[in-house]
Amino acid sequence: MIDLRSDTVTRPGAGMRAAMSAAIVGDDVFREDPTALALEERVAGLLGKEAALFVASGTMANQLALLVLTQRGDEVLVGEGAHCLWYETGAAAVLGQLQLTSIGTGGFFTGADITANLRPPADWNARVTAVALENTHNRAGGRIWPAEQRRAAIAAAAGSGLRVHLDGARLCNASIATGESLASLCAGVDTVSLCLSKGLGAPVGSVLAGPASLVTEARRWRKRLGGGMRQVGVLAAAGMYALDHHVARLAEDHEHAKLLARAAIEAGAPVTEPDSNIVMIDLPGASSAEVFCGRLRERGVLASAFGPSRVRLVTHLDVSRAQVLEACSALAQLVANV
Ligand SMILES: Cc1ncc(COP(=O)(O)O)c(C=O)c1O
Repeated sequence: MIDLRSDTVTRPGAGMRAAMSAAIVGDDVFREDPTALALEERVAGLLGKEAALFVASGTMANQLALLVLTQRGDEVLVGEGAHCLWYETGAAAVLGQLQLTSIGTGGFFTGADITANLRPPADWNARVTAVALENTHNRAGGRIWPAEQRRAAIAAAAGSGLRVHLDGARLCNASIATGESLASLCAGVDTVSLCLSKGLGAPVGSVLAGPASLVTEARRWRKRLGGGMRQVGVLAAAGMYALDHHVARLAEDHEHAKLLARAAIEAGAPVTEPDSNIVMIDLPGASSAEVFCGRLRERGVLASAFGPSRVRLVTHLDVSRAQVLEACSALAQLVANV
């Protein structure tokens, strides 16, 4: 099967497994795991932040950020379709007792969208205290924030006294696609989360970075939520390996996504050229995405139904060029016959 459901399906290869097996470990709750500490220091440096914390998942990283940036009852502004609104099982409401408000369109927003959603500081209003961006944006199809719009939105948030979190689960994809450094992509944000287990191919793990005081508070929350992980160096070593070997190659995944999109376009689907490794196909004639994915599966390709007639394909390091070309022809045949 050619599995294009998500870039989370990758399995650690021999090199990564060897690095995991050789990892020097200690008790990370005592801050004695040298590999975890080294990973945190490395990622903090890459993201241009003071400190970082290795955590179990992208969801945990996002939620820890919201917990340390806000207080109970606050309101957080997020882009349309934000992962923390759609896919984190209501965690912001359950853990932080926060209200998330979706602003802008297509995952992005402007400074004007932020200011239009601020509330006068009357005691009957919730306090709007934070904004969260997502780059690349999953539900928007791996879209990358236009640089000027991103900077303006971050500046507007800061100018209104709001804290800013960046869900950078796929920030390395944004960096490779645009040539902008990770640190520059995170400039002006308070906290940023980066996933090691998506396009980077580690089996587990994300890193949350930000000012040392907030990361210390996030560590307390991580323990409170059961995320203190002891000899976690075996997992951090996979993250280190991923940063050494799997960042530059994301360009290949982006090229593969363009091939898939082109195949669908040539067969008659109005697909937008992808920015990164995610392709969204709105089926002609509003056909059923479930039925379409079933037919693709019969041809050896796995994809996700992402809406009634929207299909998502994600490229990653466990799908070769030859497999992508095979998927292209299956896709073209099916789209042409929808
Ligand atoms: C943009 C984005 N943020 C966060 C996450 C959450 O990551 P995890 O599945 O590790 O909790 C995902 C997962 O797909 C994602 O796409």
